Amino acid sequence: MAAIYMLLLVLVRSVQGSSNSTKPELSVDFYSKSCPQLEQLVLSVTTQQFKQAPSSAPATIRLFFHDCFVQGCDASVLITTRGGSGVEVEREAYDNKDLAAEGFESVNKAKALVESKCPGLVSCADILAIAARDFIHLAGGPNYLVKKGRRDGKASTIANVKGNVPRSNATVDQLIRLFGSKGLSIPDLVALSGAHTIGFSHCDQFVGRLYDYRGTGHPDPVLDPRLLKALRMSCPRFGGNTDVVAPFDVKTPFAFDHMYYANLQTNLGLLATDQALFLDPRTKPIVQALGKDIGAFFKAFALGMDKMGSIGVKMGAQGEIRRDCTKHNKNI
Ligand code: HEM
Repeated sequence: MAAIYMLLLVLVRSVQGSSNSTKPELSVDFYSKSCPQLEQLVLSVTTQQFKQAPSSAPATIRLFFHDCFVQGCDASVLITTRGGSGVEVEREAYDNKDLAAEGFESVNKAKALVESKCPGLVSCADILAIAARDFIHLAGGPNYLVKKGRRDGKASTIANVKGNVPRSNATVDQLIRLFGSKGLSIPDLVALSGAHTIGFSHCDQFVGRLYDYRGTGHPDPVLDPRLLKALRMSCPRFGGNTDVVAPFDVKTPFAFDHMYYANLQTNLGLLATDQALFLDPRTKPIVQALGKDIGAFFKAFALGMDKMGSIGVKMGAQGEIRRDCTKHNKNI
């Protein structure tokens, strides 16, 4: 009887042990032994890039968002080369058509430098997470610690993109549902949308608001008339230059501040999805709170980036450490 009891105890212990067994987790000091100079190396590249091309900041932040929302933060968005099967990659998707080149360039340059000092050790997914944080800080936003240990995905497929990246005509319901499906709350949605305090949008993303809002034949009645006039000059209804862009934040387009929320409260939101955050009762109080307090915005934004940076990450034996961020190792 005692022997059976002992055996049971051992079994219980081993089951408990296995449930406690260490599941890999992202950590701030993941490379502290293998590549202690990592953050410094990335910062040297991002600082240089920011000086030469400040648009690298919004470009890289958006790139990180589009990476994490599609198949997790695994640098799958960086792949440019189709594999042997000729499958089209994420980057070729309609929703990724306007990801600016400066984001890809920043990550590829940082990777080349890191690879020269710490070969084969640091994932492109981690470099993208660090570079996004650097650019947020360089543009005046919060500095926060980035957890690391992500591995790079071994696949990148165009079909995974649609429905995983929000479109500029989405409803607040759709945004809440999409962010919720990634483990992000309504406060995360509102805080992360604050990234639109820097950067630019092409006319096609908001031209409907200027001339024919929801098929009414009239502009969006909420849009401030002076902004409407200015945007119409850059973005004609038909035949405009498709390369023209407008700043998200008309007041302080290059500063990572909380002006985005003040703009929404004065009808200066650029995309319908931006303005909708001030119109919906579920998100309006958060817009007001973040608009009042830049410290609260920075805190909520850093928390949101940490959560977003943990979506669907591959760790341990999963994935690979790419040598070139644009290619899977098997294609090198
Ligand atoms: C809430 C839903 C969101 C929608 C519907 C949305 C949509 C868009 C659109 C349509 C553009 C303009 C693309 C172009 O025409 O070039 C854009 C740009 C941008 N988005 Fe979002 N976005 C959302 C959330 C986010 C989040 C969560 C982040 C990051 C945390 C982000 C960061 C950016 C940045 C920085 C830009 C400017 C890119 C540049 O100037 O190169 N967005 N977004």
